[in-house]
Amino acid sequence: MTLIRYEGKTFEVGPKESLLDSLNAQGAAIPSSCRSGLCQTCLMQARSGVPPESSQSGLQEALRLEHYFLACLCYPEEDLEVSLQGGARPLIPARVIRLERLSETIRLVALKPEAPMTFRAGQFVHLFQEKEIFRSYSIASIPSDDEIHLHVKLQPDGEVSGWVHESLKVDQIIHLSGPLGHSFYVGGQPEQPLLLIGTGAGLAPLFGILRDALSQGHTGPIKLFHGSRHPQELYLGPELQELSIHSNHFEYRACVSGDQVAHPYERGRASDLAFEELTDLRGWRIFLSGHPAMVKEAQMTAFLAGASLRDISMDPFTFTQVGSEGG
Ligand SMILES: Cc1cc2nc3c(=O)[nH]c(=O)nc-3n(C[C@H](O)[C@H](O)[C@H](O)COP(=O)(O)OP(=O)(O)OC[C@H]3O[C@@H](n4cnc5c(N)ncnc54)[C@H](O)[C@@H]3O)c2cc1C
Ligand code: FES
Repeated sequence: MTLIRYEGKTFEVGPKESLLDSLNAQGAAIPSSCRSGLCQTCLMQARSGVPPESSQSGLQEALRLEHYFLACLCYPEEDLEVSLQGGARPLIPARVIRLERLSETIRLVALKPEAPMTFRAGQFVHLFQEKEIFRSYSIASIPSDDEIHLHVKLQPDGEVSGWVHESLKVDQIIHLSGPLGHSFYVGGQPEQPLLLIGTGAGLAPLFGILRDALSQGHTGPIKLFHGSRHPQELYLGPELQELSIHSNHFEYRACVSGDQVAHPYERGRASDLAFEELTDLRGWRIFLSGHPAMVKEAQMTAFLAGASLRDISMDPFTFTQVGSEGG
């Protein structure tokens, strides 16, 4: 049992509990999203004591040295005094330059950062509705576009997605975190086959990764399976068809898991159709994004089909458990 001091209170954390789960169960409101070390929503800092090295996985060196850590990965080994991350990463102001409807429920938000912002296609940002209310959205553009594109799906009663769909206006200045996440195309193996599977707005990071790979001269096969229950939600179909005509090593597959399936859509879940066809994934690089259950299941299936775990990148769109960043 370790003792954690947070906001003037002391919490006991058992040996098998993460600091995030334990503090939240005891009434502290620590924000979280992916709960698996991917999104950095739960970033905290140890003001005294040293957080376990495993809780600093994926953090920049400068943050690690200042004892920042991810609460969802933190199984404390000593007593700590902790605080939320306030001020660790300056926010970047960005102007809304375009808003477009991509489907009934998905809106394109095109942004122009008003400060330098270096990102890799496929990473994600935190989009702030207000100072303390934010959500993660994947970047669908590539650096040479010189714009940040987000695909935001309207969730029923969704606080931030509702605001994006109903209130956000062109020319409005909003704030973004710097880019986060490790799911992006890395050059150097242009012949490696790529498999991209996404559901719904899970197409966003894959669209960026695909365009990035093509612009970097990827020559190996690239297969993109995009899935949804309804065909009208398979947005960007014409653009993807066009890309597949110009790059004959890229194949686009639109998969509908509901009942209304007509040409050119295929019937079935995107991941099922992909794995039925590709039974040997040795040597493949795989990107999975969208519905968290699909991402988790597909990771396991890809691994069992021979893909190396380090070649599988994931962006599960888990949703935020506590809505404020605090600090
Ligand atoms: C790394 C990462 C990348 C992401 N990228 C994108 C992206 O590119 N595009 C995108 O649209 N979203 C993306 N998300 C999800 C996004 O961050 C928000 O969680 C989502 O927009 C809902 O926020 P909200 O404030 O509208 O809903 P909330 O106010 O947080 O939730 C409202 C209600 O909807 C339910 N809910 C929220 N989200 C879901 C869901 N996905 N499935 C089922 N029920 C849900 C909640 O339980 C709640 O009842 C990503 C998430 C992560 C972790
Ligand atoms: S990194 Fe901890 S909730 Fe995502």
